Amino acid sequence: MKLFVDTGILDEIKEINSYGILDGVTLNPSLIKKAVGKLKSEGQEINMENYIKNILKTVSGPVSLEVISDIFGKMVDEGRRIFKLFNPIANNVYVKIPISPSFGKNTNNQFDGIKAIQVLSGEGIPINATLVFTPEQALIAAKSGASFVSPFAGRVDDYIRGNNDIKFNKSDYFPEYGIKKGGEIISDNGILSGIDLVGQIVEIFRYYDIETKVLAASIRNPRQVREAALAGADIATIPYSVIKKLLYHYKTSEGMKNFTSDIVTEYANILRND
Ligand code: E4P
Repeated sequence: MKLFVDTGILDEIKEINSYGILDGVTLNPSLIKKAVGKLKSEGQEINMENYIKNILKTVSGPVSLEVISDIFGKMVDEGRRIFKLFNPIANNVYVKIPISPSFGKNTNNQFDGIKAIQVLSGEGIPINATLVFTPEQALIAAKSGASFVSPFAGRVDDYIRGNNDIKFNKSDYFPEYGIKKGGEIISDNGILSGIDLVGQIVEIFRYYDIETKVLAASIRNPRQVREAALAGADIATIPYSVIKKLLYHYKTSEGMKNFTSDIVTEYANILRND
């Protein structure tokens, strides 16, 4: 499974990249807002175009940049603009298009995202279909030519808990096979958890040999990274804070302390010149 970092903060991207494990980056308007807020709080000048270009130069893998409109023609224009402006920098731009840009059930533009995905992918622009909450949305995105589909695992868990008056903290673990309330397993229309959504999409794509990659997004804790991998996700995009936790285990730290305190001079002298 490839590991992307889910942040717009360049310093965080550079740090994770320095570990040699970074395969890509995902951005969205909220992550860009957070990065801009940080720069402003530090009193730094912001040249957004150059800032994004620096991100693109930092990583060799895909960097997803999202459109901001909710109407077919405008999304296509923005997708072309993003690709033309930024792809020549490092040839690693993916345009992120919401699977449905509609703000409600009854609006007329439910399929504008799908139409934009078809036009842009038809022009050779790689697309990351975002805000995916059902396997059928993923299937339609894939059929439309998306290179990646992004199921929002953490937000599925938030939604199920929110709908069932379950209090939680953002990083709380939510079991892959769901939770019971009143003796019944609760779900969002048959989706038991965010990881269950990822797994259902993987299963469908495998069944039909669909080449679109499943990018597990909205990851909240290390265990979700493991479960995304076990579910067969091609990629997980992970917040900086969660990547930092991936190597922690109490017994690893304890073992390090014990090994360090057991070092004898006879052995250390071979390894150290000083
Ligand atoms: C990345 O593609 C998504 O935009 C992101 O993972 C959403 O994460 P969140 O639900 O924590 O905001």
